[in-house]
Amino acid sequence: MSHQLASELAAATARRDVTTFRPVLLDGQSRDTPAALVELVADPTVVVVDELGEQLEQLVKGRAPCRELSGAQLGDAVERVLEGRAPAAFGTWVFYPWSRRLVHVLPEPLHRELRLDRNRYAITEEEQQRLVGLRVAVAGLSVGRAVVSTMAHEGIGGELRLADFDVLDLSNLNRVSGGVADVGVNKVVLAAREVAELDPYIRVVAFPRGVQETTIAQFLADVDVIVDECDDLEMKVRLREHARAAGLPVVMATSHRGMLDVERFDLEPGRRPFHGLLGDVTSAELGGLTTKQKVPYVIRILDPASLTERAAASMVEVKETVSTWPQLASDVALGGAMVANAIRRIALGAFSASGRFYADLDDLTADGRQAVPAPAPAAEPAPVAAAPPRMPPPGTGAPSPEEVRFIVACASSAPSGGNMQPWRFEAQSDVIRAWVDPTRSSLLDFRNRAALLALGAALEAAKIGARALGFEPVARPVAVDGPVWELALERWTDARDEEAVKFLWRRCCNRRTGSSRPIPEAELARLARRGAPLDARVLAGDALTELGSALGALDRVRFLSPRLRRDLVGELRFTPEETHASRDGIDVASLELDGADLATMDVLRSGAGMELLASLDRGWGLRNAARDAFAASAGAIVLRAAAVDRAALLDAGRGLMRLWLEATRRGLAVHPWGSPFLFQRLLEDGDSLEGWEREALTHAADGFERVVGLERDRPVLLILRISQGDPPSVRSLRRPVDDVLAFAA
Ligand SMILES: Cc1cc2nc3c(=O)[nH]c(=O)nc-3n(C[C@H](O)[C@H](O)[C@H](O)COP(=O)(O)O)c2cc1C
Repeated sequence: MSHQLASELAAATARRDVTTFRPVLLDGQSRDTPAALVELVADPTVVVVDELGEQLEQLVKGRAPCRELSGAQLGDAVERVLEGRAPAAFGTWVFYPWSRRLVHVLPEPLHRELRLDRNRYAITEEEQQRLVGLRVAVAGLSVGRAVVSTMAHEGIGGELRLADFDVLDLSNLNRVSGGVADVGVNKVVLAAREVAELDPYIRVVAFPRGVQETTIAQFLADVDVIVDECDDLEMKVRLREHARAAGLPVVMATSHRGMLDVERFDLEPGRRPFHGLLGDVTSAELGGLTTKQKVPYVIRILDPASLTERAAASMVEVKETVSTWPQLASDVALGGAMVANAIRRIALGAFSASGRFYADLDDLTADGRQAVPAPAPAAEPAPVAAAPPRMPPPGTGAPSPEEVRFIVACASSAPSGGNMQPWRFEAQSDVIRAWVDPTRSSLLDFRNRAALLALGAALEAAKIGARALGFEPVARPVAVDGPVWELALERWTDARDEEAVKFLWRRCCNRRTGSSRPIPEAELARLARRGAPLDARVLAGDALTELGSALGALDRVRFLSPRLRRDLVGELRFTPEETHASRDGIDVASLELDGADLATMDVLRSGAGMELLASLDRGWGLRNAARDAFAASAGAIVLRAAAVDRAALLDAGRGLMRLWLEATRRGLAVHPWGSPFLFQRLLEDGDSLEGWEREALTHAADGFERVVGLERDRPVLLILRISQGDPPSVRSLRRPVDDVLAFAA
């Protein structure tokens, strides 16, 4: 090498910046900033990075992810954020001396908002604020570097105190982030640079000589949590002695079997360091020991019984064939994750235990430990269908048991809330009586009104069945404390009207949501009139979207309220086996959900996260399915009872059945919505609701009131969404007739 090259190399090496780690922040609005920028930009070694425009757009998009903003709307929204300032004067210009880059970033709160946008709901806004306010001291920056990096990424810590005396070696690069150009630089400097490049607003206090006797008090003053990742046993004990005196939690990950130690000196002032594993030895006593004399203490902390084969073998080989204890990048990354996770939960009050924990990946993900077993070969799904009963042969005199069964099967074909079939029947000579079965009720079934509506529909169906067998069915008056209805069967004619019965078995819900073929409003009005004297009002056009949104708001309440959700989910049958076993409830296949919605339903049914959404006043996306379903349909019919007494509700049920059968004849799809029963509960018995439910229902009622109107004495019973398209995928089942029918002597 020539002498000249050697001296130029030496000069270039001397230019290497191994010390700076603090970014220079230039406030876009400060009067001095333009001059400083001019000077920096004029320097040919400085590179400018200005992505602020893009970031502003992402920010406003992130604030309204439900909206597809047009270019103009996006521009307006960005202008509102800028509040008339020129983009160059907005936010902060950050100069990083070690890389000579000048980066334009958003102001601190907006930088945090956008950078941590994807944390949302894993961490709530309020929680994030608390985390950003934390002061954390980290001693030792190998595993500690992974901790710092994870914390900074996650938005944990507004001030980080970083201590390590060591520089990065090439042999650290099997596990510590960085590159060959970082070798020889102090680990504090490297960690601080990473933090500054991620979030220049985080304050870093550097201790590049490590924690020393003279600086330990300053290192730990007013911190919220101490992270111990240093190798020095004496210092480890000293950190804990300080932590105990100051009442501070200590968290430590050891790159071995995912070991995490948490020592809550803040909650347990008398707790012994290292869970008492070290006995009563003090840092002062350890100070006098040689490395060899410290070995038994290190082993005690590690707990020899917990050592893996490889770790035990390595221990024997340390200073023989290997310089130090082996550590893998995956273990270090895991340690970083575990410590950051523990600190977050400690800070948010979600973790209060002290002790040792293992997240041993070798063990947790060993063969045979999989949480989701290998898929079983797909079984042929059992067909779900409601087969019509066979018509009994013509008879004479009083109805035969077979004829009674047929008529009750017809009655049972009626629709009911959640397909709960809330009825029981009794036959005695030529009379069939029906009762409400109170065990088959739900919260939605306010004052048994949904059940009475269903029994009204069942009465209409029973009459059709009776006529089909040549009987003249006569409904008899009933006592208030007697059955809900009583039907006398008088044999009348041999001519059997089998046609009407066919439609009983064709009638069903069709919950398909695709875009409907249009149905003229006059046809919908004719259909509505078939329900008379039931008050049936047609809604079409724009009102449909508004109605759908109002019913969607009810869906949201039903999913977020634990007991309403239990009711809702309890009515669903998730597999053909479940459907066939109970022969009641609603087969999820009949909800006509696509794969994505089915998967969402699986999450919703578990209830996970619903309480959080309720507490944050979120979950508004749960409205969309109803809104979209109504927007795509041809019309809706609002059914309102004339009064709330039993007779009025039975009449309403009969009207519902007539209307629905007519829709069936016309090939129209009917999808009923019974959720407005909840509004009636709100109006008539608000005290039976819980505070949150009352508030949320009141809010939902506002939207409903605008498009439908609520009347205390003339309740809305059902909304029928009407459309025309493909037939439903599946039909609902009914319980066996003999389960609901008894013959009295
Ligand atoms: C009072 C009442 C409330 C209902 N509420 C709803 C509802 O909110 N959503 C729905 O999809 N179906 C609803 N239905 C329809 C029933 O789920 C349906 O009638 C039952 O599952 C039987 O199915 P089928 O009508 O296809 O025979 C309701 C029915 C009645 C009578």
